Amino acid sequence: MIKVAFYDAKEYDRPSFEQYGRLHDIRFRFLETKLNEDTVDLAKGSDAVCVFVNDTVNAAVIDRLHEYGVRIIALRSAGYNNVDLHAAFGKVHVVHVPAYSPYAVAEHAIALLLTSVRRIHKAYNRTREFNFSLNGLTGFDFHGKTVGVIGTGKIGRIFIDICRGFGMNVIAYDLFPAKDSGIEYVLLDELFESSDIISLHCPLTEDTRHMIDAAAIGKMKKGVVIVNTSRGGLIDAEALLEGIKARKVGAACLDVYEEEADIFFEDRSGHILNDDLLSRLISMPNVIVTSHQAFLTEEALNNIAETTVGNILSFFQKDGICDNELCYRCGSIEHCKKERRQRCF
Ligand code: NAI
Repeated sequence: MIKVAFYDAKEYDRPSFEQYGRLHDIRFRFLETKLNEDTVDLAKGSDAVCVFVNDTVNAAVIDRLHEYGVRIIALRSAGYNNVDLHAAFGKVHVVHVPAYSPYAVAEHAIALLLTSVRRIHKAYNRTREFNFSLNGLTGFDFHGKTVGVIGTGKIGRIFIDICRGFGMNVIAYDLFPAKDSGIEYVLLDELFESSDIISLHCPLTEDTRHMIDAAAIGKMKKGVVIVNTSRGGLIDAEALLEGIKARKVGAACLDVYEEEADIFFEDRSGHILNDDLLSRLISMPNVIVTSHQAFLTEEALNNIAETTVGNILSFFQKDGICDNELCYRCGSIEHCKKERRQRCF
């Protein structure tokens, strides 16, 4: 029996993990708390921990997990910016779920975009109150507009395909442009200057943190719509708010927010929100915020559980070898791919 401490467990996580766990003799201990230095003791006696995007897996937490004999950190997410991979090297193995449903995230980005541009959220509230006026609901056609996509990996490419279906002109920027993809790559500044809509699909790294800042917004078209379903830290939220107040940014669709860790995924209704910046953004008529829900489809939840259980099993049953292990030496998956099917340490 493999024992796994499952941090930040939500109601919607349990059925799929319980089902796959039962099939493979893995016992998940569901903990509602997030993993951090104060809660790491709850992992004592576990062989593995399973964590999500807002768990804190820093050097101090990793040292304690190592001390308690935890051998593997199984991220049930694609992004891993919350894990100190270098600190993990030589101590605890880290695996993730590289893709569970890129369609879920790309489709959510489109859902946000359509909702925002066609004012569906406003229309919904109006008609519920029998207000059938159309004033203030004017949108714009997607057809013929230019969408700039930053990051053309799994999610970015699906997003691009959908945009092409709308008849949009797609331009893109990626640090590693995909060869023979038929995607028109441009420099980042050109993307900022030419796009009517900008959608972010690259990971959060030291290089990409605040890639959308005051200077970037200054280069954008007046009325630009910014969509972020990737990671909150890609956008300097204060600069975004200023851009909105200055009427430079036409709309923002945010599924992620830099300071989301203590707010998102929880029911805060009836509480006073201490984050003034988020409150102000939410109060804007042209901002839509969802609570990091882009991944939340039945298909994705099922794939997350299946892959995570597979990761844990292959680690314990195949001598520590797991295809979805992250590279500790360099913290980069791209580099690590060359060395797949070897143990990292
Ligand atoms: P991926 O790894 O397939 O693609 C990422 C792309 O970004 C790659 O093409 C890579 O070359 C590019 N990239 C890396 N550094 C860059 C840079 N400095 N500038 C521009 N491009 C750069 O990842 P995938 O699956 O498409 O996911 C993208 C992001 O979506 C993840 O990093 C994650 O943060 C986010 N995500 C959000 C979810 C949500 O529920 N909101 C769920 C899943 C992922």
